[in-house]
Amino acid sequence: MTEKIPVAVLGGTGAVGQRFVSLLADHPWFEIVSVTGSKRSEGRQYGEAVRWHLSTEIPPMVREMQVDRGDEGPKGAQLLFSALPARVALETEPQLAEEGYIVCSNASSHRMGTDIPLLIPEINADHLTLIERQRDLRGWSGLIVTSPNCSATGIVFPLKALDDAFGVSQVHAVTMNAISGAGYPGVASIEIYDNVIPYIRDEEVKIAEETRKLLGRLSGETIEPAEMAVSAQANRVPVMDGHLAALSIGLKKATDVEGVEATLAAFGGVEGLPSAPSHPLIVRSEENRPQPRLDREAQDGMAVSVGRVQPCSVLDFRMVTLVHNTVRGAAGGALLNAELLVAEGYLGEAARELASA
Ligand SMILES: NC(=O)c1ccc[n+]([C@@H]2O[C@H](COP(=O)([O-])OP(=O)(O)OC[C@H]3O[C@@H](n4cnc5c(N)ncnc54)[C@H](OP(=O)(O)O)[C@@H]3O)[C@@H](O)[C@H]2O)c1
Repeated sequence: MTEKIPVAVLGGTGAVGQRFVSLLADHPWFEIVSVTGSKRSEGRQYGEAVRWHLSTEIPPMVREMQVDRGDEGPKGAQLLFSALPARVALETEPQLAEEGYIVCSNASSHRMGTDIPLLIPEINADHLTLIERQRDLRGWSGLIVTSPNCSATGIVFPLKALDDAFGVSQVHAVTMNAISGAGYPGVASIEIYDNVIPYIRDEEVKIAEETRKLLGRLSGETIEPAEMAVSAQANRVPVMDGHLAALSIGLKKATDVEGVEATLAAFGGVEGLPSAPSHPLIVRSEENRPQPRLDREAQDGMAVSVGRVQPCSVLDFRMVTLVHNTVRGAAGGALLNAELLVAEGYLGEAARELASA
């Protein structure tokens, strides 16, 4: 394409925001024209304001950019990636959508809205049709699309594959969440070092609600949540990146371990979107995988890994799933959503044509 689509990263100095900056640095369709932050960062150069945690360098085109105000529509950008705290996103994102911006959000504030798509392109791209209802109800010229909670993202890939093939009736999930999931400064080192904390505020409810919405069916203009029972227990563990979840799953139709593994392995990706992994669900056959340190970067952090598939004497099968929480579970997921919006024409015909060129 000749000219890239101008974008902004809201909350660009945070844990997820810098992941956005890094993923957008060489993006074929998008170009960062603004990053925003809180009063702490406003007016400072990005390279000075950000506490950069990634092992790659700060992209040169952003390093000297001045950080804009976080609650205003950035000038020059049409598409906004939001990594704002939920309390800020609650008011700011609808205002921006009303002003005509396309908002791809990571915040939890609007995920469960009945007219707001909670989207993963490989799972529920058809839920995008909620945007028509959103615009009718709210009169916005812009829109909001959200990406799910990071733990729910790792859990929903194997569930989608199994639900389509056998029907899922029950799920019990025990998550082991990385510390980067709490943002910066996040959990105090004195609390997490040499320890596991069996509590993450609101995480268990989000996993249950969002999983059922993601796997829900479009019925008229709304989503009917999937009927499966989902129970989750969330723990914070001393791992930098990568949320692991141990799942026990009850199925409606009988199968065996080979049937489950073959179904998971056959789960396909989406085509034509630059950030889409060719294999979004990778099945590991080793007895001790997936592991955060070894498997979180699979397919540039965009694939979910699953392994340890075994029969379960409580429900039918158990397995372990892993997602890179700040890539697939946050910035990478929202980026893929934005690419789908472009491909589907939500940023206008010119953007769609440029992207398909
Ligand atoms: N971390 C994850 O794995 C993950 C996964 C999925 C979703 N999320 C969600 O993504 C969002 C960002 O999370 P995070 O982990 O990146 O948090 P974080 O590290 O605390 O970053 C928060 C960002 O928001 C900015 N900010 C704070 N208060 C603001 C205000 N009043 N106005 C404008 N900007 C403000 C901060 O700017 P300053 O640096 O200038 O203060 C910073 O850029 C949250 O809603 C979180 O729940 C996180």
